[in-house]
Amino acid sequence: MFHCICLHVVVGDFTSAGISYQHGMKILEGLGASGLRSMRFGLEVPGIQKIICNDFDQTATEIIDRNIQRNNLGGIVEASCGDASMLMHQNKYNFDVVDLDPYGTAAPFFDAAVMSLREGGLLCVTCTDAAILCGNTPEKCFTMYGSLPLRAKFAHESGLRVILRCLESHAARHSRYIVPLLSLSVDFYFRLFVKVYSGQKQAKRSASHSGMVYHCTGCGAYTCQPLAEATLTKGDEYKFTPFKGPPVSEHCVQCGSRHAIGGPIYLGPLHNLAFINRVLLSLDRLPHLSTERRIIGMLSMAAEELDEPFYWEMDGMCKTLHCVPPPMITLRYSSSSKHFVSIHFFWCGRKYQSLK
Ligand SMILES: C[S@@+](CC[C@H](N)C(=O)[O-])C[C@H]1O[C@@H](n2cnc3c(N)ncnc32)[C@H](O)[C@@H]1O
Ligand SMILES: [Zn+2]
Repeated sequence: MFHCICLHVVVGDFTSAGISYQHGMKILEGLGASGLRSMRFGLEVPGIQKIICNDFDQTATEIIDRNIQRNNLGGIVEASCGDASMLMHQNKYNFDVVDLDPYGTAAPFFDAAVMSLREGGLLCVTCTDAAILCGNTPEKCFTMYGSLPLRAKFAHESGLRVILRCLESHAARHSRYIVPLLSLSVDFYFRLFVKVYSGQKQAKRSASHSGMVYHCTGCGAYTCQPLAEATLTKGDEYKFTPFKGPPVSEHCVQCGSRHAIGGPIYLGPLHNLAFINRVLLSLDRLPHLSTERRIIGMLSMAAEELDEPFYWEMDGMCKTLHCVPPPMITLRYSSSSKHFVSIHFFWCGRKYQSLK
């Protein structure tokens, strides 16, 4: 399972799974349901001290308990029945890993989650409200995440950046900051792995890597504008000033249409290349997984992606330009040039550097 592989990479060089290590990781699965994920962590990931598998549903907790007995994980997995936010608030700076996997949005749990992690702890987040994050109901997205989504070809990347911006703002109000390791859009859901650290200085940089997006309603051209400009003053001190804008004129210079405004979104990198490479390398050391080829494909694409936001989707771009799309083989070949890179969001998406 992919989540287990990511934890393998974080945990380092312990040898045996299923044994509680005194100085191992403390993991919280806040929304455990039957506890399937916690059982797999317990059986497959070495170097764990304890896994708390929590659900607020009494029946779910009884099932978790039964699964603990069935899998002989009594020494390492513990069932808990309660509200996930309450549990995290009662465990400040306590967990090495927190996994949030709700039905729909995970946003209501962000505040408690960023506070429950120890320094450098790993937060694993699933959000299944892709329709909301991709712009079907912008008002709902705003109430949940504090950002307006964009209905654009790059809506999935925009959705990931809305989640990251929400996470970052929750972390920043506690003088903490996030470092995204891997941010994926898979099928109907989003899955993110971020590390959480403390630091007033880094937290203050939040405004300079949050920004608005101007998206042309005619040709789809997009322009991002950071909310604040960070200027280095002395040493590693920054001065922050509001960005001057807007960066686009009222009408799109390409086609004359007006712009939709989305955001604020997270403008920083979605992934950490070193982490992805370590996950890819660790696949060799693990037993073969039936989804291995898909995992390798997704991670290799993510590793190729440019750090800057958004991309052009080739079919859509050719439609706008009234031309025939080039064959896929030509596109794949071109991904070795510095102008195009593949992206994990779309089979025919390309981050295209030289348009800007
Ligand atoms: C999508 S399921 C979790 C699936 C599970 N992570 C897995 O991999 O099998 C969501 C679970 O969250 C629980 N839940 C929802 N809100 C909760 C809350 N505030 N606190 C604790 N559990 C909650 C529900 O009872 C449900 O069992
Ligand atoms: Zn336009």
